[in-house]
Amino acid sequence: MSAAPHLWLGGREDAGVLARLHAGALVDPWPEAAFVSLLSRSEVFVVVGARTDQFLPDGFILVRTVAGEAEVLTFCVAESARKCGLGRALLDAACCIAAGRASGEMFLEVSENNAAAFSLYQKTGFVAVGRRAAYYRHGLLAADAIVMRKPLSDASPDIVEGHALSFRSGTESTKRN
Ligand SMILES: CC(C)(COP(=O)(O)OP(=O)(O)OC[C@H]1O[C@@H](n2cnc3c(N)ncnc32)[C@H](O)[C@@H]1OP(=O)(O)O)[C@@H](O)C(=O)NCCC(=O)NCCS
Repeated sequence: MSAAPHLWLGGREDAGVLARLHAGALVDPWPEAAFVSLLSRSEVFVVVGARTDQFLPDGFILVRTVAGEAEVLTFCVAESARKCGLGRALLDAACCIAAGRASGEMFLEVSENNAAAFSLYQKTGFVAVGRRAAYYRHGLLAADAIVMRKPLSDASPDIVEGHALSFRSGTESTKRN
């Protein structure tokens, strides 16, 4: 990536833009109300990212932390912004924040057909720990979900040091450029 992406903690007020990004990137988009509802919970956070310094969102990752574990609820980057490092930056930031909220491990599910996401997860330290048969269904087609896990004990703020992490709200009000 030529310039470091800008990342910040979003909130309920971002639900509309999150829903639009989601609809553009995933086959089963969530309604805006789902983002409002999830982001009303203290255990859920969203990291939003932009390729430029204009704070125009190009992607986000939504995470829930409960009882020492974190789970990626959904994650996407707009097609026009892909393959520039934003997805990796968002995932790294989410792992750091989850570790800072006392999560010892991060879990996620990925379709067996999603080569791009699977490759990203493998490169960032996730390991397959299970499989849910026919978890994703689209019409007559079904695909297994691969369950992946990453221990967060090694996560440290250094992971995001290069990504100009800029938090606009919340307790993590640090700006690094
Ligand atoms: C998965 C996704 C978030 C990746 O975002 P991104 O910004 O393009 O990712 P990055 O540029 O940070 O790429 C990081 C790594 O991901 C992998 N990757 C990304 N796009 C890829 C592609 N088209 N094919 C294969 N690997 C790919 C590569 O390993 C890449 O590492 P590299 O740059 O060293 O080759 C994005 O493709 C996306 O939003 N997809 C649709 C929604 C989705 O699948 N979400 C995840 C659901 S589990």
